[in-house]
Amino acid sequence: PSIDEWTGHGLIERKLQRLLHIEHVKIVPGDSDANDAVKNLLAKEAANEFTERIGDGEIVAVTGGTSVAAIPHYMHSFERAAHLHFIAARGGVGNDIGLQANVIAASFAHACGGTYSTFYYPESLSGEAHEVFKKEPTAQKMIDLYEKTDCVIHGIGDAQRMAEMRNTPSEETEKLQQDGAKGEAFGYYFDENGKIVHRIRTVGIQTEQLKKVPLIIAVAGGKAKADAIAAYMASAPEQTLLVTDEGAALEIIRKL
Ligand code: G3H
Repeated sequence: PSIDEWTGHGLIERKLQRLLHIEHVKIVPGDSDANDAVKNLLAKEAANEFTERIGDGEIVAVTGGTSVAAIPHYMHSFERAAHLHFIAARGGVGNDIGLQANVIAASFAHACGGTYSTFYYPESLSGEAHEVFKKEPTAQKMIDLYEKTDCVIHGIGDAQRMAEMRNTPSEETEKLQQDGAKGEAFGYYFDENGKIVHRIRTVGIQTEQLKKVPLIIAVAGGKAKADAIAAYMASAPEQTLLVTDEGAALEIIRKL
């Protein structure tokens, strides 16, 4: 079904808010799986919401991925932005440097006139090495910043696709499948009930810290991401604002 631009979106947005138990949903027309231009609409909507809602002097943590990476293209400088500080919500993803959280944090700062700091942390550490590395002053500084984060802007990935992108070893990918991993966000994998079934060993924002963040903007669209979005939203903080498209929205409603 297609949605009537004028009356339908509001209704579908409210329906999704109820189904996903979150406070805000914004839906843009189209399906980003079928049409690349829809991803730009998502980014533009997210940029508008962010600019309207962000306060002054705040810390903004962003994740990697194409959906979040597109947002700075639609941002412009605004007065309050001079005091915004952008950081990566955690270490990088995949091989494409342009899609890594640190690079995206820098693009946000350039686009709106804020500042940023980078934080690199290897994702392939052993448990022992991780225990040592996370005590380093640079890691501790980030952990402190995550405690004080005012806004998080993040993507949501399909669990299997994310595992592939990360070149996850096959036994771990199988384990994810067995555990019913459906959605991924900031390095956590969620099953259809929103339960965390796996997480990447890294320094990043914790789900307990996320709960305290007043402004959370999730950007994810495309029919194929419907299960991933629903899985993540099953335990997402209520204050989350989801920016999605008709393709994902209608599929979530059809399935839930
Ligand atoms: O965490 C989720 C992924 O980064 C989403 O990536 O926006 O390119 O689909 P994507």
